[in-house]
Amino acid sequence: MSEFSTYLQDILAPLASSPVKEAMTYSLMNGGKRVRPQLLFDALEAYGFPVELGYPMASAIEMIHTYSLIHDDLPAMDDDDLRRGKPSCHKAFDEATAILAGDGLLTYAFQVALASDVKDEQKVCLIEQLSKYAGCDGMILGQSLDLQAEQRTTSTLEQILEIDRYKTGQLLILPLVSAAILADRKEDLGTWIKIGTNIGIQFQIIDDILDATSTEEEMGKSLSDARNDKATIVSLLGIDQAKMLAKQYKDEIDRELAGLNLKDQKLRATIDALLDRKK
Ligand code: IPE
Ligand code: IPE
Ligand code: MG
Ligand code: MG
Ligand code: MG
Repeated sequence: MSEFSTYLQDILAPLASSPVKEAMTYSLMNGGKRVRPQLLFDALEAYGFPVELGYPMASAIEMIHTYSLIHDDLPAMDDDDLRRGKPSCHKAFDEATAILAGDGLLTYAFQVALASDVKDEQKVCLIEQLSKYAGCDGMILGQSLDLQAEQRTTSTLEQILEIDRYKTGQLLILPLVSAAILADRKEDLGTWIKIGTNIGIQFQIIDDILDATSTEEEMGKSLSDARNDKATIVSLLGIDQAKMLAKQYKDEIDRELAGLNLKDQKLRATIDALLDRKK
């Protein structure tokens, strides 16, 4: 990961100096867990490819994920002041700069993804997936559903799972389908979509449990679900049932992975660690 971190830093270096570049760098290099790049690298390794092949796509995905967090923290959205252990982008800079830093990370991600060392047909496919999973039928739809749910008095389990499938699931499917495209194994895409969707829902359930049970110090971010009346699995089912549900998703993921029949020990360890994470 430290070599990848240097790669990520170097990507931003050629951009002209500006407050927006400073804010992009501040948020991107600010110590996220890098879960999405790790999933991409582990899936590539399961196919027998070197992780370096995945650096451009992993960077693009981490940039889009970081933009989604910058905008998620804005006063108009979750209104959170702490992110990745430091003041949120709009607190460290200002709101306008934070909006533009998000825009900058999103648009630059497509240019970065084009550096992938594969055939042009594969690159076209990668760019298409990047747009689809990040876009208004992807993560953005989920963020919109999340905000709509704040206005309702109650949400059903189905509604909450739909929010999670989009706001979190889409950017967790993306690294897995990207690995399959880089490895030229398009026939596996359907299975990776199922696995990524389930990882996404499980990941958001754990995030919601930690929001209710951890501290801002440990998480390095504001914990604001209750204040914002968020529709979460925890608000609907409580902590114990939420934990049980997360475990059920984990079992489903294990079954689906077995069907792919890859050398996936590392990927399985990464997914196991997501269930037990403390931040
Ligand atoms: C936070 O994602 C947003 C959710 C989808 C729950 P991460 O927990 O991966 O955040 P970083 O990248 O480590 O900061
Ligand atoms: C955010 O979900 C998902 C995206 C940013 C797309 P949350 O709002 O729960 O994420 P945190 O808790 O602020 O990291
Ligand atoms: Mg949010
Ligand atoms: Mg939030
Ligand atoms: Mg959260």
